[in-house]
Amino acid sequence: METLRILLVASAFNSLTQRVHVELSERGHRVGVELALGDDLLRARVAHFQPDLILAPMLTRAIPEDIWSEHTVLIVHPGPKGDRGPSSLDWAIHEDADEWGVTVLQAVAEMDAGPIWASEAFPVAPCGKSELYRNEVADAAVRAALRAVERFAGGRFEPEPLDYGRPDVRGQLRPYHTQQFRRIDWFTDTTATVLRKLRAGDSQPGVLDELYGREFFLHGGYNEDRLTGIPGTVIASRDGAICRATVDGAVWLPQLRERRRPDGPKTFKQPATDALGAELPAHVPEVPVTPAEAATRDTWSELRYREQGSVGYLEFAFPSGAMSTRQCRRLLEAYVDACARPVDVLVLGPTRDFFSNGIHLNVIEAAADPAEESWLNINAMDDLVEAILTTTDKFVVSVLTGNAAAGGVMLALAADEIWCRESVVLNPHYRLMGLHGSEYWTYTLPRRVGTTEAVDLTRKTMPVGARAAAAMGLVDRVAPGDANGFWSWVRQEAAALAETPELANLLVRKKQRRAADEAAKPLAAYRTEELTQMRRNFFEPGEPYHQLRRNFVHKVCPPATPAHLLQ
Ligand code: COA
Repeated sequence: METLRILLVASAFNSLTQRVHVELSERGHRVGVELALGDDLLRARVAHFQPDLILAPMLTRAIPEDIWSEHTVLIVHPGPKGDRGPSSLDWAIHEDADEWGVTVLQAVAEMDAGPIWASEAFPVAPCGKSELYRNEVADAAVRAALRAVERFAGGRFEPEPLDYGRPDVRGQLRPYHTQQFRRIDWFTDTTATVLRKLRAGDSQPGVLDELYGREFFLHGGYNEDRLTGIPGTVIASRDGAICRATVDGAVWLPQLRERRRPDGPKTFKQPATDALGAELPAHVPEVPVTPAEAATRDTWSELRYREQGSVGYLEFAFPSGAMSTRQCRRLLEAYVDACARPVDVLVLGPTRDFFSNGIHLNVIEAAADPAEESWLNINAMDDLVEAILTTTDKFVVSVLTGNAAAGGVMLALAADEIWCRESVVLNPHYRLMGLHGSEYWTYTLPRRVGTTEAVDLTRKTMPVGARAAAAMGLVDRVAPGDANGFWSWVRQEAAALAETPELANLLVRKKQRRAADEAAKPLAAYRTEELTQMRRNFFEPGEPYHQLRRNFVHKVCPPATPAHLLQ
């Protein structure tokens, strides 16, 4: 296929834009990125980059007419053919659609009404909108975008005009999904309805509601299988989440964001019990669940543990992939328990969505002393990574069904092998947060990819797709499929690994290598060196970390496309 100069125009260099970037670059196209931060900036970039094609994987504003009339501009819209409007996925979840679609349309004067270049269907999984977006939507969007690019490159494809008379054009123009549609009536809405409303609003903008006289946006939305109570009341807490009764059950809310008061400071998402603070009545009980029990129940838990033969699966799933001090410590505890089990292979990772995005920047931002909390958080992360690195009697596999970034990638590298879903995008760097980084990355990253590549990855700060990661040795195995298909493969391979006679030799070699590495340079020395730099990042004046974190947490738009994206 002819290779093209393709300019990606996006509201943010988000997961889907990164994935499209990776996929197109792998196919030999010259790919540029421009954030949609103003029409004149965009005009200047188009004039400079001279694209054959402009593709917008995630765009929340219109492209100016002089650009779409001069160039072919293709927009990725998260709805089936004929669907129009800014809240497609919200409506799909709200109305309980089984199947939805992604359509690539050409930009014209009327929003979402241009001729169609490609359209792909996907099943709507029972999860929050953002999780759906990063999984089923992203996979369908990549398929549709690649097909559209191929058709454009072929030069002969005639896009299909939007025609509501056609049987396969089933979408419609829908309004913005305001809070009016999201509002929960705790006295009449069933658990299923409450869950749909919460999921349609997660992770943005949340469902506006009242708790103890304060206004909050509710985030998350998970079933509870046992607890009940007076509808609308908070009946339990667990690991920072709160449980609210419905008319026929209860739901879990892991995070809340207080509504910003007029002239008040900006607010951001926090673990629900932190957001409520002293307002949470003392009589609300903490109702814990063990990871093993959670694996047999339909309740909310960040940790689940199950065994199949001599394989132990420790599944973790932290909202946004962010891991606070407390979450790191809970995972460490579950890991230590799993290590005490009579299993030979330990598999670590969520069954869907983010593997991990490192330390919890929101919890740090909310802390009375963010530098001190950053320090506690990175030490808790290091303790966890160290426990994995020093496990020598089990073969440990990190399984990445979804993306990972910064310390989250390095957490995965602590295992003996990394198995990765083909659609995963990794960001193995800390620089964009102004950090040197820890998690023993100076030990694990060069050991996998070599020193030159390690320096390159951390300096260039660009995303790496799963296939490229495997080619450079960053991950070991890559498998295709949706999350379920991928996990069937994981279970099959983990069982085979546990049964192979080779496993005993692998464990002997692992022990020998750890001992040799420790003799050459103790893990403690890596930790001290990394943490010396991190201490500086956290505590010394003039370091950029605190401002960068604040900008990230408050979603501050950069004034122009960052330099690392312009190369
Ligand atoms: N702490 C707190 N929240 C985090 C987070 C972290 N470390 N990493 C991601 N998030 C949140 C985002 O704020 C966003 O929240 P929202 O859903 O309320 O908007 C959500 O997770 C998804 O992130 P988003 O940036 O929209 O997803 P993405 O897939 O497009 O991009 C990353 C993912 C990882 C590239 C980007 O989120 C990032 O750079 N995260 C920070 C990584 C980091 O520097 N960690 C600290 C050093 S170890």
